[in-house]
Amino acid sequence: MFETQSLALLKSALRRLEEGSPTLPSFQASVDLQALEEILHQVADRMTDNYPYAHPYYAGQMLKPPHAVARLAYTLALWINPNNHALDGGRASSKMEREAVHAIANMFGWQSYLGHLTSGGTMANLEALWVAGQLHPNKKVIASAQSHYTHQRISGVLQLPYQSVPVDVAGRMDMQALQRILQQEQDGVAVVVATLGTTAIGSVDPLPQILDLQAQYGFRVHVDAAYGGYFALAEGLSETTRLAFDAIAQADSVVIDPHKHGLQPYGCGCVLFKDATVGQLYKHDSPYTYFTSDELHLGEISLECSRAGASAVALWATQQLLPMVKGGQFAQDLSTSLRAARTLHQKLQLDGRFVLPLLPELDIVVWGIRAERTSEMNQHAQRFFDEAAQQHLHLALTRLSSDYFRGIDGVEIDTDQVVCLRSCLMKAEHLDWLDEIVNIIITVANKLL
Ligand SMILES: Cc1ncc(COP(=O)(O)O)c(C=O)c1O
Repeated sequence: MFETQSLALLKSALRRLEEGSPTLPSFQASVDLQALEEILHQVADRMTDNYPYAHPYYAGQMLKPPHAVARLAYTLALWINPNNHALDGGRASSKMEREAVHAIANMFGWQSYLGHLTSGGTMANLEALWVAGQLHPNKKVIASAQSHYTHQRISGVLQLPYQSVPVDVAGRMDMQALQRILQQEQDGVAVVVATLGTTAIGSVDPLPQILDLQAQYGFRVHVDAAYGGYFALAEGLSETTRLAFDAIAQADSVVIDPHKHGLQPYGCGCVLFKDATVGQLYKHDSPYTYFTSDELHLGEISLECSRAGASAVALWATQQLLPMVKGGQFAQDLSTSLRAARTLHQKLQLDGRFVLPLLPELDIVVWGIRAERTSEMNQHAQRFFDEAAQQHLHLALTRLSSDYFRGIDGVEIDTDQVVCLRSCLMKAEHLDWLDEIVNIIITVANKLL
């Protein structure tokens, strides 16, 4: 299952790195190869206790291994282990970070902005909400009931009040509910978080309408596109979803996770601000760093101190191989994931044993197992999940409000929430493997239902 041919390229790239580096008196750290081998084999043994994330039969959580170029570039960089905090720690990788972040900003239509990589989506969102709180102290953070739980937690950390807005039948922030909150709060809102690609169901909040309300009430708009951001390049989005992605350029800040759909190893998030002057809020004095250059050190505009330069190197390399342009291979793969999700949705809908309350807006499909009562649906979902795993198809589960299931013929609502199967079809290969995936789902249904 593992591609290993490309490992030879790592050796030749390392030679090149060495040849280009300054000539210094000979020095080499020693390694005990036998001891290394022993431990590495122990690591390999331990790591067998994992789901097969690289295989198309892994169609559960938002997990997939990075692209080979990211894996190799990251590993190559580790021989230097640059730290993108200050230029003292990583000159080349800091430049690569700026170029990689610039490419992401361009994807959203921004030429001027402030941005940098982070260790992930949580840190990136924390910075965006921190900036909102600095500019509007003690005012509320508002996000939808389907937004990632991180927003409520971050608001707690920042000691900002938090309010959740209900969602509509499609899982998008309910605009009437938001308007009611804004009327009550008047100018008491620091920021409204629009999620473009919610974690559980991939729904996309109506960003254009949120921006209309911003014009009236003056809050900041933050877009959490940690999961969905790269779908800005995809073809085949629904009209409302396309409009939401096209409106990102008008938001105040945006978060995207290259370690989700950007083919990167974990440890790679990104936050961008439209107004570069928010950089002043990060101003701090460091008696230890920033001496080697008058140029901007990324640590001067980031809440995290040490950050993996290797992450920037890997992202930069991936963008060279797979440029983030509409119609390019990277964009086409996202469109393929979208098609896979729609196809799975259609196929499951043909089978009366499943209930599909939501059309997939991105590449996440959610379905319940039909039963007379929602409490039975919950039991079926758990058993279905376990049996599919026995058959090597790895799905995920999610709890949805029972409201999504109201009005479905023959289903009595006797629980607040309904446990559903959930599948993130993040790999382009999922489309080619869909018949096999559906066959397993049908086999499991035939066995259990
Ligand atoms: C929409 C959204 N926001 C934020 C996060 C948190 O990001 P991370 O896990 O990279 O910290 C996630 C993770 O799934 C997410 O889907």
